[in-house]
Amino acid sequence: MNRMNTVLLPCGEAVSALGMGTWCMGESPALRAQELAALQRGLDLGCTLIDTAEMYGDGLAESLVGEAVRGRRDDAFIVSKVYPHNATARGTAAACERSLRRLGTDRIDLYLLHWRGNVPLAETLAALQSLRQAGKIRQFGVSNLDLADMRELWALPGGRDVQTDQLLYNLGRRGIEWDLLPWMAGQRMPVMAYSPIEQARLLEAPALVAFGRRHGMTPAQAALAWLLAPADGRPDVIAIPKASHAARVEENAAAAGIMLTAAQRAELDAAFAPPRGPSPLEML
Ligand SMILES: NC(=O)c1ccc[n+]([C@@H]2O[C@H](COP(=O)([O-])OP(=O)(O)OC[C@H]3O[C@@H](n4cnc5c(N)ncnc54)[C@H](OP(=O)(O)O)[C@@H]3O)[C@@H](O)[C@H]2O)c1
Repeated sequence: MNRMNTVLLPCGEAVSALGMGTWCMGESPALRAQELAALQRGLDLGCTLIDTAEMYGDGLAESLVGEAVRGRRDDAFIVSKVYPHNATARGTAAACERSLRRLGTDRIDLYLLHWRGNVPLAETLAALQSLRQAGKIRQFGVSNLDLADMRELWALPGGRDVQTDQLLYNLGRRGIEWDLLPWMAGQRMPVMAYSPIEQARLLEAPALVAFGRRHGMTPAQAALAWLLAPADGRPDVIAIPKASHAARVEENAAAAGIMLTAAQRAELDAAFAPPRGPSPLEML
């Protein structure tokens, strides 16, 4: 397996800084072989964190992930998510069982609440703690929670065991740098950046294309390298680009080896400005 930068979760476990997303994968039989090859290439390259959810293709993405890791389960760190409407005491356990079956495994490495719904956070946290105790999940976390939600969570029993908040974060979506990311940095909690290339739309931004040309990297590599670069007031970042082509997985994986200089970061900051005040949490 290749060497890949890692990020430490609060529990002390190291995970690959560059993972792989799976939204919209596993839905087309015609694309299955190509998608499996892409995920397996990523595992070979050390992008061992695979992000999925019961929501994606109504479980089809989880089934694809299960097939991709068959025979090499220990190479992968599987992240999956429970729907908010399932995140009750009994519903979380049932949803987790269904996900485990589709994934063909006995444990999910990190299980996230997909976004906040109507179930009290305390009930979901208790359910996640029970699942962890039963060994069905190894760690748990959240997604799409804003600063007020995180503060509320932090005050609840088990809230401080949350390993990450998975959030929309890329060069064009920097709002969380205002207050949520500094708070997470203070708790030493990494952020998991989803849609890190804005579902490929960012790759056409003229400033990013020009930056990539000047510095000998592709737009995707520049966007991912920017996310992975250490920055003041920012926690460690785990980025989870989704690519269903092995060549794109290779291109993205190479971004983990690019260390942007301070001057290059300043160039990107000038083109993609950081926030100047608070804003509501954005999600896709
Ligand atoms: N928690 C949440 O609410 C939430 C929300 C959204 C996403 N997510 C997670 O985050 C993952 C990533 O986000 P995303 O899928 O929304 O978007 P993304 O990773 O920003 O972009 C994916 C798109 O970019 C293309 N792509 C990837 N690498 C490329 C490259 N090097 N050159 C050109 N095109 C490239 C992919 O094409 P191909 O696939 O055709 O190769 C795909 O169309 C998801 O898959 C999911 O696991 C979580």
